[in-house]
Amino acid sequence: MRVIKTIRELRAWRKGRKDVAFVPTMGNLHDGHMALIKAAKARADAVVVSIFVNRLQFGQGEDFDAYPRTLKADSEKLEAAGVSVLFAPDDEELYPRGGQECHVEPSTLQNELCGIYRPGHFRGVATVVLKLFNIVQPDIACFGKKDYQQLTIIRQMVEDLNLNVMIVPVDIGRADDGLALSSRNGYLSAEERQRAPQLFRAISGVVKALEKGTTQYADLEKAATKRLTDLGWKVDYLEIRRSEDLQQARPGDKNLIVLAAAYMGKTRLIDNLEVTLPSR
Ligand code: PAF
Repeated sequence: MRVIKTIRELRAWRKGRKDVAFVPTMGNLHDGHMALIKAAKARADAVVVSIFVNRLQFGQGEDFDAYPRTLKADSEKLEAAGVSVLFAPDDEELYPRGGQECHVEPSTLQNELCGIYRPGHFRGVATVVLKLFNIVQPDIACFGKKDYQQLTIIRQMVEDLNLNVMIVPVDIGRADDGLALSSRNGYLSAEERQRAPQLFRAISGVVKALEKGTTQYADLEKAATKRLTDLGWKVDYLEIRRSEDLQQARPGDKNLIVLAAAYMGKTRLIDNLEVTLPSR
């Protein structure tokens, strides 16, 4: 595996190569990331993984400084997984002027769901992903469904800006007890970790009710939110949306998704579950 730190060197490596798959990450790699890499490897000759903790997508008071940086352990995992290139630029390389003058402005979806609580987050994500796409020039790029809003915004960006990259969504990796794999799980105390699957159980309960034919979406959202709150969670949102574009779900929609973000203690966890309803 080559470890590349500069745009110039990455571009030189990329020249003349066909079939490049790309997995952008912020490092602190876990099995969820490894599933993205497996999906990338199955689809292309060469796989590039980037590790870059992108300050643009962190708001004030968020965990940019504390975000776990584990480059040595990450690079060992990537080497063992047969990755071709680890692209690990520093801040200076991607933001030589300290920041960005020019940004990608995603659709108004950026101000909903997680966007209400993390203003500017998706603008920062879309901007760095476009920069990375321009540097790596991948044929395909893999994104996890855990960050479903991010995935939707990236898909919209690719479509609206005619980017020549195929986006491959990859299913959420889960621990045996259902907890979605996330770098932030490492912040949970042992006791919090035990209770954390309550979030998955709450959205699973909503999916079951939807499958039974309930269309009182607001009531389902309220009841599941109350259940979590009673268990000690601080819920940012728990919503039923259309999975295709994350717009408000209406009775009759078949492809839905239940998304939630909530705090277990000081740790904000997100999760979601898609559901396809049978035609009745
Ligand atoms: O999902 C992430 O880890 C980040 O948002 C991404 C896509 C690597 C952009 O910084």
